[in-house]
Amino acid sequence: MIGMGMIFDETYRPFFESVARNGLFDRRFGDLDVQLTGAATRTGRRAEAYQQAAAGILPPFTSYSGADAAAQLIATSPDFVCIATPDNRHFEAARDALQAGIHVLIEKPSVLSLAELDELTQLAAQKNVLARVVYHKLLDPDHKKLRTLVVDEVLQHVNNGYCSLLEPRQISGQQFAEWITGRNPGTYVAVHYIKLIDFTFGGRLKTITCTGQRGIVGPADGPTWDSCQLRLIYEYDDGREAAFDLHTSWVTPDNFPGYVEQEVQFRFDNGIWNGHSRRRGVELTVAGKTPLQLKNTINNHYNATCVEPWGERTQRGYGVEVIDRFAREVAMVEHGGPAEERADRLQQVRSLTYSDLSADRQVVAAVEAMELILAEQAAGRPDRVVRFDGQSLQLI
Ligand SMILES: NC(=O)c1ccc[n+]([C@@H]2O[C@H](COP(=O)([O-])OP(=O)(O)OC[C@H]3O[C@@H](n4cnc5c(N)ncnc54)[C@H](O)[C@@H]3O)[C@@H](O)[C@H]2O)c1
Repeated sequence: MIGMGMIFDETYRPFFESVARNGLFDRRFGDLDVQLTGAATRTGRRAEAYQQAAAGILPPFTSYSGADAAAQLIATSPDFVCIATPDNRHFEAARDALQAGIHVLIEKPSVLSLAELDELTQLAAQKNVLARVVYHKLLDPDHKKLRTLVVDEVLQHVNNGYCSLLEPRQISGQQFAEWITGRNPGTYVAVHYIKLIDFTFGGRLKTITCTGQRGIVGPADGPTWDSCQLRLIYEYDDGREAAFDLHTSWVTPDNFPGYVEQEVQFRFDNGIWNGHSRRRGVELTVAGKTPLQLKNTINNHYNATCVEPWGERTQRGYGVEVIDRFAREVAMVEHGGPAEERADRLQQVRSLTYSDLSADRQVVAAVEAMELILAEQAAGRPDRVVRFDGQSLQLI
């Protein structure tokens, strides 16, 4: 595990704990033991605290810290490496792990430029290993249903839509304070919806525009963004287009009841899909606990600690399922049949584009374009447009 912060705690930790208890079983690869063998972090503090908290739940693992923590961990040749460092620190660790012939899972956003993405994709092909990225919103049952209706042509031709995701201010002000300078909430969270749009509707990304606001997280003329508004234009095989607006923020007041408020609307030739994180869900109030210690609006589909009806305590949801799925994909490649058929199995898993890095090009293009446009705005050249021809970006 490279990086052991908030997302480790929410999704990887419950995965490793569950698999330590129950193993990983599938008729095709049998009963496998999956163990967390090492963690590379900046200071080692959280890894060591977790090591103590997990005593008796997980076997001991090695904690590496400091500038070459990731390199030390990679040198131990684990079967796979998960990378959950800050957004702009994924590439180097992924490159080094792939170079060492290790399967890699990267948190979203995979990487921040097409050049980085292409290098990783080539390395994965050369070394015959998986390079995959976590977009857990694709496993959200509501988004699976949306895609099913699109695949089955019940919903026909998307014309336009909007998505909004509002993070509380504590994310930018406390949680990410160490790496927030120069960052923006679009790369951090719009990317969830870029992937949802790209994977669900297909098409060719053509044009990217973006603007943003500053002055809360950092100075009003600096490179750190409070909120941003991104527009993507896609073209489909029949020559028709669609436009999507994605609004994100990480300065919403902490006591706003819609913790990580999420809303989408997609309009089709023959229908509308409306999704709202609060309307689909639960609103909970507990005196003295909500909204900070417990959230008012809890997404129990993503991640919920539960007492199962049969008494077992679990932490489950699509955030954990997506990690479990990756471990199963690695297991399929390595143990899912005869060694001489490994290349076929590798190819089969790679063709599952929901998470293969090679299928993340348009998402990375959108992220790189967004960051280019915001950098232009910060340099006093606002309102730029980026066009994408499938290969490279052109700033105009
Ligand atoms: N899928 C999701 O919904 C979701 C949610 C939150 C975060 N994320 C992504 O996960 C990644 C991590 O986010 P987070 O919220 O856990 O961040 P965090 O700041 O809580 O944790 C970051 C971790 O990375 C470690 N780290 C930093 N630099 C490092 C380096 N050079 N080498 C090794 N370790 C290093 C830190 O020690 C820390 O353990 C980000 O890319 C973020 O976008 C995804």
